[in-house]
Amino acid sequence: MAHINEMATIAPSILAADFSRLGEEIKDAEQAGVDFFHLDIMDGHFVPNISYGPDICKTINKITDGYLDTHLMLSEPEKYFEAFAKAGVDSLTIHLEVHPDPESYAKEIRALGMAPGLSLNPDMPIEKALPYLEHFDLLLIMSVFPGFGGQSFIEASIGRIETAREFIDKHGLKTKISVDGGVDRTNAARVVDAGADILVMGTAFFRSEDRRELVSHVTSLTHNRSQKI
Ligand code: DX5
Ligand code: ZN
Repeated sequence: MAHINEMATIAPSILAADFSRLGEEIKDAEQAGVDFFHLDIMDGHFVPNISYGPDICKTINKITDGYLDTHLMLSEPEKYFEAFAKAGVDSLTIHLEVHPDPESYAKEIRALGMAPGLSLNPDMPIEKALPYLEHFDLLLIMSVFPGFGGQSFIEASIGRIETAREFIDKHGLKTKISVDGGVDRTNAARVVDAGADILVMGTAFFRSEDRRELVSHVTSLTHNRSQKI
């Protein structure tokens, strides 16, 4: 069973890659030091946009040995757990908005050999997610309303990350905190200082002129935080 990296990291969101040269984009990201990819799955129902499904994930899995962190923005994600397991992804993140009592879904995902993650939109109180964290390897805090890449980071997310960090540390949980939406070079340090382990970056990564430098910058930020703890 795959484990989410011990080291905090950057997770480029494939949604922002140039799909006409997906293989090259992934290889180029690897060369820049990436070993963790964020896959955004949208159904046009839970979010007002459609992206891609298990077949593309399977293709991505053939291209890279990197960790495939899969964000399910679906109204009925449980229908597809098995298909994603067969596609070879490493984690599946479901939304608290869809499953107000998500514990059993975490178990299903784990039983299929993947790591379960729990996500919540910016308007869902962070306190609602906390009681479930012991069942999840990942907490994906949305810092934009999901559906599209390239949106601006919602500042109120910083306090939400801090609340989650405090809870996780206080209870000695292993759950990693990932932050998704509008994360870029200008806010990365604050997101990490608030307590994030993983920074999802779509636009900021794939539009970056120097991806390698961005990866080492984010890695150094997260490394400094883990030394502080
Ligand atoms: C939003 C997705 C994000 C998004 C991130 O619906 O869940 O993962 O692709 O892209 P940026 O970094 O461009 O906000
Ligand atoms: Zn996402």
